Amino acid sequence: MDLIEALNWRYATKRMTGEKIAGSDLDTILEVIRLTPTAYGLQPFKVVVVTNEDLIDKIYRNSCPQVVIKQCSHLLLFKARKRLDPEYLEGFLNEMRRVRNASDEYIDGYRSKIERVIENPEINKFSWMIRQTYIALGYATVAAAMLGIDATPIEGFDARSLNEMLGIDTEKEEVVVLLTLGYRDEQEDKLATLPKIRKPMDLLVERME
Ligand SMILES: Cc1cc2nc3c(=O)[nH]c(=O)nc-3n(C[C@H](O)[C@H](O)[C@H](O)COP(=O)(O)O)c2cc1C
Repeated sequence: MDLIEALNWRYATKRMTGEKIAGSDLDTILEVIRLTPTAYGLQPFKVVVVTNEDLIDKIYRNSCPQVVIKQCSHLLLFKARKRLDPEYLEGFLNEMRRVRNASDEYIDGYRSKIERVIENPEINKFSWMIRQTYIALGYATVAAAMLGIDATPIEGFDARSLNEMLGIDTEKEEVVVLLTLGYRDEQEDKLATLPKIRKPMDLLVERME
């Protein structure tokens, strides 16, 4: 499938078959998430890959009663950081220094640019990090489609109960969105054959020429 074919083929699948996706395909999707661009390259998120059936059952019962999560092959939980503490920032800058053999002057300049965001009271830091996380969600969704794997982004869950159940330290991070991976059950999913609803191009794109 080429890119546009894949994006027409994909849809937010409501019923899956339970069939497992190949480990190599999962690895590709995770690598795509790893390669996702983020502001300053900070990647202020983590992804949890859940396959444990008891845990999925608990998530379904307590936080996300959407059938597809019980039928998926893998459930990805995207956790966004709550803040960029100095330890995280310095870890990132040290990696930049190592990988690019960057000078102290360059690193100090880069740190200052990031600090302008971190120290700007008008920027809601958690919201900023959630936005970075959603870029990864988008990339993962496209990657899945290119691999012929179905995926459902899910915001419809009780974040408080999920974070609590997983014992997440919400001072530091929170699960903000989920993604199921698997294969559609065309017989059971009423949405499988419905056409897409999308704006026509002229309502979506404005041109300044
Ligand atoms: C951030 C985000 C959150 C979503 N949350 C849910 C959800 O909780 N449950 C669900 O069934 N679909 C969810 N969707 C799917 C959208 O409803 C769906 O992508 C949209 O209607 C467009 O349809 P399509 O993806 O099938 O083309 C979500 C999609 C996105 C991008």
